[in-house]
Amino acid sequence: MTVPVILAGGSGTRLWPLSRELYPKQLINMYNRHTMLQNTVLRLSDLEGMDAPLIVCNDVHRFMTAEQLQLIQVVPRAIILEPAAKNTAPAIALAAIQLTAQNQDPVMLVLPADHRINDVSAFHRGIEQGKTLADDGYLITFGIVPDTPETGYGYIQKGSSLEDNVCRIQRFVEKPDLDTAKSYLSSGDYCWNSGMFMFKASTILKELTLLAPDMVDICRRAVANGRQDLDFFRVDQAIFDQVAADSIDYAVMEKTEKGVMVFLDAGWNDLGSFDALWQTEKKDTHANVIKGDVLVHDVTDSYINAQSRLVAAVGLDSVVVVETGDAVLVSPRDRVQDVKQIVNQLKSRG
Ligand code: GDD
Ligand code: MG
Repeated sequence: MTVPVILAGGSGTRLWPLSRELYPKQLINMYNRHTMLQNTVLRLSDLEGMDAPLIVCNDVHRFMTAEQLQLIQVVPRAIILEPAAKNTAPAIALAAIQLTAQNQDPVMLVLPADHRINDVSAFHRGIEQGKTLADDGYLITFGIVPDTPETGYGYIQKGSSLEDNVCRIQRFVEKPDLDTAKSYLSSGDYCWNSGMFMFKASTILKELTLLAPDMVDICRRAVANGRQDLDFFRVDQAIFDQVAADSIDYAVMEKTEKGVMVFLDAGWNDLGSFDALWQTEKKDTHANVIKGDVLVHDVTDSYINAQSRLVAAVGLDSVVVVETGDAVLVSPRDRVQDVKQIVNQLKSRG
């Protein structure tokens, strides 16, 4: 049996002001009528051997998360609520602990809730291949052939071939700097880490116990002292607060020797920035992506999104303009990752 574990607790800061702390990108419909969370779950619907999904999300998003699943008639296996965002490693630990506590040891298919995948059949084939490798005790990543020196991704250096379409991981480097990313890209020796993983619950718990024993210990106690609250499972707040935030990429994937990579050619994209949205959306004849009530003259290669008012732009190239009811973002398209800095300033303003 495979349990999809959906990581839906991020805040999507690089898509501010569309994505907000209380209304993050996984709960928004970015490219079709379903939200990113709904698309993540629906993408699995005709895949054999899949159990109901287990969702791990932040306490503050619980009602929207539950409602969005209800709307697509999906009854989750569980919704685990985190009282604080501690990044992906503790979220995966909580899921693995809960799954094994029920005296089971399923394969976990860990899926971020912020991806777009165009070729769902290719994605399903990758998962089927990943399942048999996970049963054999490997930690599976899904690698994407890179086409830009993206610094927001993890990079996986290909090792020896294990079977058709699968190789060992020679090296895993999470979010390198630009020069390093450029050298990886030109070497042809690296794939992007798609951020989706497969492993048996017992395998990831063993690796986490080896590499981050305190995290596992705290998460075990947070689950043991947690409680069911209607449809939600609340981990103990005071205990979970003690866990150090870390991503699974830094905590495990950079260090483990059990990693393998399944090559995935499925039209994958992490809609992690407005530039990624520009890349994946349909463009007009001037290579602009226009959303909402927008008038342009002599504008090229730009992403312009008007949510509540008319937006007019003249004589611009490669920019991002995003207008919402209470905030407007303007940035060159190649600097738009830095919107994180604005979100940090907003946080410190309180
Ligand atoms: N439950 C929970 N709790 N989920 C979280 C938390 C948390 O504290 N933090 C993030 N998530 C969710 C996000 O909502 C998203 O669905 C997923 O976990 C991944 O987090 P991101 O913050 O989007 O990670 P990233 O995009 O910067 O990097 C990861 O994905 C890249 C590909 O998209 C890494 O795995 C990279 O190596 C990878 O290349
Ligand atoms: Mg992401």
